[in-house]
Amino acid sequence: VERTFIAIKPDGVQRGLSGEILQRFERRGFKLVGLKLIKVSEELAEKHYAEHRERPFFKGLVEFITSSPVVAAVIEGKGVVATARAMIGPTNPLNAPLGTIRGDYGIDIGRNIIHGSDSPESAEREIALWFTPEELLDWQATIAGWIYE
Ligand code: GTP
Ligand code: MG
Repeated sequence: VERTFIAIKPDGVQRGLSGEILQRFERRGFKLVGLKLIKVSEELAEKHYAEHRERPFFKGLVEFITSSPVVAAVIEGKGVVATARAMIGPTNPLNAPLGTIRGDYGIDIGRNIIHGSDSPESAEREIALWFTPEELLDWQATIAGWIYE
């Protein structure tokens, strides 16, 4: 099965949206396999957003993501990488449909509440960057048979 990395950014945590956002993924049927509250270091932030190094917003992005705690999570399930991205919505919240996390809670692109890996390759890289193997749990959800046929 597939896993993806999500991070509730400082704005989402400060606004008290962590529980509600995690609940959306749980209700969809995805299973938590890793979860922690973390004060992101500059080094981790720069590695995580390495692809945006040359962009004008990079410095502000690193400052923002390191400014206040982040909820980091790994969730598991069939098709979870693409489905989590769909549930999160487009990067700019003003373009995000209602019913998506960014469309329901956000306004500014620099305060878009949550990150989700954009491909299975990114997910693998980001999970390894944010979590140690011991922090990821293999466990059976007893309700699985009511979610998957
Ligand atoms: P993430 O899940 O956070 O990676 O968002 P994304 O994949 O939808 O967008 P992308 O990877 O292109 O950009 C990473 C993050 O940089 C975004 O979530 C924004 O917070 C920020 N960002 C992207 N473009 C802009 C921009 O034009 N201006 C500002 N201020 N921030 C931006
Ligand atoms: Mg991205």
